[in-house]
Amino acid sequence: MPKIPLSVIEEIKYRSDIEDVISRYLTLKRVGSNFTALCPFHSERTPSFTVFPSTQSFYCFGCGVGGDVISFIMRIENLDYISALRYLADRAGVTIPEGVGDDSGKTISRQRLLDMNRDAARFYRDALFDGKYGGDAGMAYLLQRGVPPPIIKRFGLGFAPDSFDAMSSHMHSLGYTDTELVSGCLRGVSRNSGRYFDMFRGRVMFPIIDTLNRVVAFGGRTIGNAEPKYLNSSDTAIFKKSRNLFALNFARRHCAEELILCEGYMDVIALHAAGFENAIATLGTALTPEQARLMKKYTKRVIINYDSDESGQRAANRAIEVLSEVGLEVRILRLSGAKDPDEYIKKFGADKFRLALSGSRTKFDYFMDKVTSRYDLDNADDKISAIKEITNYISEVRSEAEREIYIAMAAKAAGISETSIKNDVLFIINKKRKEKKKKELEMVHRAAAGYGDRINLDKIKELRAASCEEALLGMMMAFPEYIGKEPTGVGRISPDDFLTSFGRRVYEAIKQVYEESGGFDIGALPDKFTQDEISRLVKLILDRQNLRNDDEVFAEYAAALKREAQERRIAKEDPLEYVRRLREENKKSI
Ligand code: CTP
Ligand code: MN
Repeated sequence: MPKIPLSVIEEIKYRSDIEDVISRYLTLKRVGSNFTALCPFHSERTPSFTVFPSTQSFYCFGCGVGGDVISFIMRIENLDYISALRYLADRAGVTIPEGVGDDSGKTISRQRLLDMNRDAARFYRDALFDGKYGGDAGMAYLLQRGVPPPIIKRFGLGFAPDSFDAMSSHMHSLGYTDTELVSGCLRGVSRNSGRYFDMFRGRVMFPIIDTLNRVVAFGGRTIGNAEPKYLNSSDTAIFKKSRNLFALNFARRHCAEELILCEGYMDVIALHAAGFENAIATLGTALTPEQARLMKKYTKRVIINYDSDESGQRAANRAIEVLSEVGLEVRILRLSGAKDPDEYIKKFGADKFRLALSGSRTKFDYFMDKVTSRYDLDNADDKISAIKEITNYISEVRSEAEREIYIAMAAKAAGISETSIKNDVLFIINKKRKEKKKKELEMVHRAAAGYGDRINLDKIKELRAASCEEALLGMMMAFPEYIGKEPTGVGRISPDDFLTSFGRRVYEAIKQVYEESGGFDIGALPDKFTQDEISRLVKLILDRQNLRNDDEVFAEYAAALKREAQERRIAKEDPLEYVRRLREENKKSI
C-alpha cells in the first residue's frame, strides 16, 4: 500500500471542512462556536454529537465516538482509511500525487535542495523576464493583473514553461538528476508509465522564501484554466507548509506592531505594492499553531483579512482561535464591496484600504456582529437566545478584566443592565465548574468500582500516570512542536516513561509521524489505531482546549510522569527501598 504523505493528508483535510462534510449527512445546529446534531452512531433524542470547527473534529458525548473528517467518512460510509482519503480527495479536487512523498528528502542533503530551489527560481525568473519558453504570456498576465514590475522583481516572481521537461533540461545541464528534482518536488513521476514530468507547467511562479532569505518552495498560478488554480510544492526536507508564511521574509521588518494575514499570494502582492509591507499569507492550507507561534516572534497583533465569502469567513473563525491561543492580539478586517484584498485595493485604492484597516474589529466586536446579525433584538425570544450566546461566550474568557469590558459592551448592545449580564455569566461559570468537578468525581468512582477503561486497559492500575500521559499526549497532538520538545529541566521524554501500554503506543506512533514529516495530524493515524482508539485521541485533544498549554505545564506533567515511572522501577527492583520511601512520604503528609 502506498504511503500517503502527511502533507497530502493535510491538504485533503484543509479542503474538506468538517462542518461542511458532516452537514451533508446531519442537520447541524450551531451552539456557540460549535455545532450539535443527533448522533448517527447511536440512537438518541437529544443531540450530544458535537462538531468542533476550531479543531476540525467531532465527538459524541453520548457514545464517545469521535474523530476528524477522515474518521467520520470511514464510519458513515463504512470505508477503510485509504478509501476514505480518496473519497475526500475526489470531493475536494485534490490529487494524491504519484511518486512524491514518503522517501523524499531522505537521500538528498538540505544544502543540495536549497541550491536546487535557488537555481530553479532563477530559471523561472529568467523565463518570465526574457520572454523565453512563453514567458511573455506570464509577464502579460501579471501586468494585466496590475502587478508593478518592481514588485515582480522584488518577490522574485517567475514563469514555468508549459512543457513537461523545459525546466528539467535546464536543471539537468546544471547537474541535478531527476531523482533529486523529485525530492525537491520540482518534478513528478507517473506511476503507470514511470515517466518523469515537470511539476509546474504554464504557471506564474511565486517563490516561497524563508526568514533566512532562502527559496524553500514554490506556489504556481495557472495563467490559463488549468486545474488546480494554484499548485504548491509538497513538504520536502527543507520546507514545511505548516511552518512557513508567504512574504514573512519581507514583512518581518515592518511588523513590530502588526501583521496583516491574507489568504492568497496575490492579495499579499497587491498589499505590498500598495505600501502595506506587513502583509503575509499562509500557503494554501489552514493556519496552524506553528505559524501562529512564528508570527508571535515578530509581532504583537494580527489583522485577519480573509476573503469575504463564506469559506473565507469560516477560515477566519478558525484563525481567530489559533492566533488567540498563542497570545496574539487579534483583529478582523472584513472588507465589503470586494471578494478579497487584491480586488478591494484595485477597486477602491490604498487610502480606502488604510481607512478600513483602522476600523478593523476586535475579536469580541466580530463575535457581537455575528450574533446581532443573526437575531432580531426587538423580538423577545431572539433577544434571549442572543444573550444566551453572548453570556456563554463571555463565560469562556479567562481574564476577569476582559470579561468586565465585554459585559459592559454587551449590556449596551442588548439594552440590558450590566448586573444581569454579569450574574448570568457568573452563573454559567459556576455551573461549568461544578459539571467539571462532577465528571471528575464520576471518573474516580467508576475507576474505584472496578469498571475498567475499555481503551486504556492499564488506566485502572495507573490512574495518576494515565492522567499525566493523557495531558502530555493531548498537548502533543494539539501542538505538534511539543512532540519534539524536551520538557525544560526534566530530560527527554522516552517511550519507557509511559506506564500504560496504550499511552506508550500512542506516543510512539505520533513521534514516528512527527519524525518522518516534521508535523502531526490525527488524520495520519487510522491505519495504526482502531476507530474507538481514535475517538479517545480526539477526546484527549479536546480535553486540553480550555486549559493552559505551555512549556511549564508540559514540563510539570512530564516530570510527574517520570516520577511515577521511577517509582514503579524502584518498586520492582528494590521493594524494600520502595517501602522506605512510602513511609517517608507518609511521615511528611502527617
Ligand atoms: N490555493 C491553493 N490551491 C488552490 C486554490 C487556492 O493553494 N487550488 C491557495 C493559494 O495560496 C491562493 C489562496 O489559496 O493564493 C487563495 O485562493 P483563492 O481565493 O482561490 O485565490 P485568489 O487569491 O482569489 O487568486 P486569484 O486572485 O489569483 O484568482
Ligand atoms: Mn484573488
